[in-house]
Amino acid sequence: MRGFLTSACILCVFITAGNCLLCTECNNQTNSSCEGSLVTCESCLTVITDIQNGNDSYPTILKSCSQNPEMCNISYHLSTTTTRMELTSSCCDTEFCNNDTMHTPSQNTTENGIECPSCFEMNADSCEANETIRCTGSENKCISFSGKMSDSEQGDCIPFALQGCATEDTCYASDFPLFPVTRLCEASSPLCFDGASISWDP
Ligand SMILES: *[C@@H]1O[C@H](CO)[C@@H](O)[C@H](O)[C@H]1NC(C)=O
Ligand SMILES: *[C@@H]1O[C@H](CO)[C@@H](O)[C@H](O)[C@H]1NC(C)=O
Ligand SMILES: *[C@@H]1O[C@H](CO)[C@@H](O)[C@H](O)[C@H]1NC(C)=O
Ligand SMILES: *[C@@H]1O[C@H](CO)[C@@H](O)[C@H](O)[C@H]1NC(C)=O
Ligand SMILES: *[C@@H]1O[C@H](CO)[C@@H](O)[C@H](O)[C@H]1NC(C)=O
Ligand SMILES: *[C@@H]1O[C@H](CO)[C@@H](O)[C@H](O)[C@H]1NC(C)=O
Ligand SMILES: *[C@@H]1O[C@H](CO)[C@@H](O)[C@H](O)[C@H]1NC(C)=O
Repeated sequence: MRGFLTSACILCVFITAGNCLLCTECNNQTNSSCEGSLVTCESCLTVITDIQNGNDSYPTILKSCSQNPEMCNISYHLSTTTTRMELTSSCCDTEFCNNDTMHTPSQNTTENGIECPSCFEMNADSCEANETIRCTGSENKCISFSGKMSDSEQGDCIPFALQGCATEDTCYASDFPLFPVTRLCEASSPLCFDGASISWDP
């Protein structure tokens, strides 16, 4: 094993003339932690996702090599009155650095003065917003988004549609590149617009 890793590493340095690290490789579709094997990478990646629907939470995690710098430092989140979705990725460049548990930044629940139309519907490819949601934290855009997600590890992909608040980055997620590790099977390009400003009573 050690001999193999050493020669893999020499190969890695030889080919890439870049970093050569051992990273953890594993994924879990039912938990935000996983343990796995070691792989040789130029840079280590961790991706965590969470879909919260009512009181149910569906976390997933992926640890692997970072293949593409564009997949590092992703932070997508969006909220409807009943649902939250988030995807956070990070890359690191020291030995075993993605072995530790990665924590999502705690949710900022402070209202930011923006209000958006909101709805969430399963088994639908669009939904009519009959409510509004007060946006919080850095979720200062209104989003309209549809796709398919599975409600269990090997579950069928079920269509859903939503409207709510999102961070601006989420609006530019034209293709969520990390589908295989999330419960999202398909997603449309998000449509974003500015929300109404709520007037604050002093
Ligand atoms: C993840 O797994 C750990 C250990 O198996 C467990 O303590 C924890 O409750 C699990 N979390 C979720 C969200 O399932
Ligand atoms: C995934 O999480 C579950 C607990 O929710 C745990 O039993 C299982 O061992 C984990 N799988 C991996 C590969 O870490
Ligand atoms: C969610 O949890 C709260 C507090 O535990 C409970 O009062 C409520 O009935 C739960 N809602 C659903 C849909 O299970
Ligand atoms: C990701 O963010 C960290 C810390 O903010 C930074 O050091 C690193 O260069 C960033 N990586 C990329 C690929 O943007
Ligand atoms: C990675 O983390 C696991 C669980 O926390 C631990 O048992 C293992 O020793 C760690 N591996 C390395 C190489 O640090
Ligand atoms: C909005 O529509 C949903 C689904 O049709 C329904 O469950 C909810 O009660 C409605 N909300 C309001 C404020 O009418
Ligand atoms: C939380 O969000 C509010 C409203 O956008 C912002 O003013 C505040 O700085 C945020 N707090 C943190 C800790 O990011």
